[in-house]
Amino acid sequence: MNDGTLLHGAPPNEDASPLGVFRVAPWVVSPVELAGDGLGIMYWRSFGVPWIAEDIHERFKTMAPPEVGPLIRPAFAVGLFPRWNGSAYYPTKIPDLIGIEDRKYIDHTATHQHRGPADLMRYAALVTYSDASDFGPHRMLSDTQRRIPSRAPDEALYALAQYLYSLEPPLNPNLSDPRISTGRQIFNREGCGSCHTPPLYTNNKLTLTEGFTPPPGHARALDIAHVSKGCGTGGGTSTTAPLRLSRRCSTRRDCRTISCRRASCRLVRKLAP
Ligand code: HEC
Repeated sequence: MNDGTLLHGAPPNEDASPLGVFRVAPWVVSPVELAGDGLGIMYWRSFGVPWIAEDIHERFKTMAPPEVGPLIRPAFAVGLFPRWNGSAYYPTKIPDLIGIEDRKYIDHTATHQHRGPADLMRYAALVTYSDASDFGPHRMLSDTQRRIPSRAPDEALYALAQYLYSLEPPLNPNLSDPRISTGRQIFNREGCGSCHTPPLYTNNKLTLTEGFTPPPGHARALDIAHVSKGCGTGGGTSTTAPLRLSRRCSTRRDCRTISCRRASCRLVRKLAP
């Protein structure tokens, strides 16, 4: 924050790359220890989409370490990083954890349902050390790497979930700004609230990207919105991102676009090759 205080649960406000790409990045990116891999193959396992013809990540397989660094480094920026199952070419936005308790889906692309602490615990366990990364017939990890090295106790995961649920956004310091009421009028006039519905400023529904047809029965079971946000690159889903517009201020610094990002779409394709 401007006054120097640290806001727990908010996306980072600092560029992670000065920490040193070679020292930190592989472990930041990968949820499992990729023993026996060179740097290039490690990143291929993280990002590769082998069922797509001419996958741009294929080149990582044969890359020498000095070539990998300059490619990976720009993917680390304020609020962004090249996450596992994401891409160095389309870095992933680090989400705000404040308010997670009220969200029905986890991840921008709604990869997991969130019905309570048990789902959050499962998600934490999955992304921390047990993501097998199998996509249909495509296996991204070797047999050794697939072995789960350790497991956090349920008590620890439950405590983690309770901590995340306890996070509170700070009070909005701009409440006396007269432009707030003008902004509210615009918000109402433009119908933003049909998707960013008060009081959570998300309707907590899935929105389909253009060209993606959910399997039969899914529309009702998953509470999919009737309107699509559109997406230039093909199928998938996205959640209507929660906005904080009332008494709380937004801690996001990278709300630059409301259009669907390509990495999100690719990620969903990866889930359903
Ligand atoms: C048809 C539904 C819909 C409407 C209407 C809509 N949005 Fe969104 N909005 C979305 C979705 C879905 C996302 C997330 C897109 C993504 O992550 O790719 C989003 C994302 C955003 C974000 C980025 C939030 C973040 O955390 O990154 C902002 C800011 C935003 N919308 C503002 C607005 C405003 C202001 C309006 C009205 C002018 C509006 N939206 C109208 C569905 C909608």
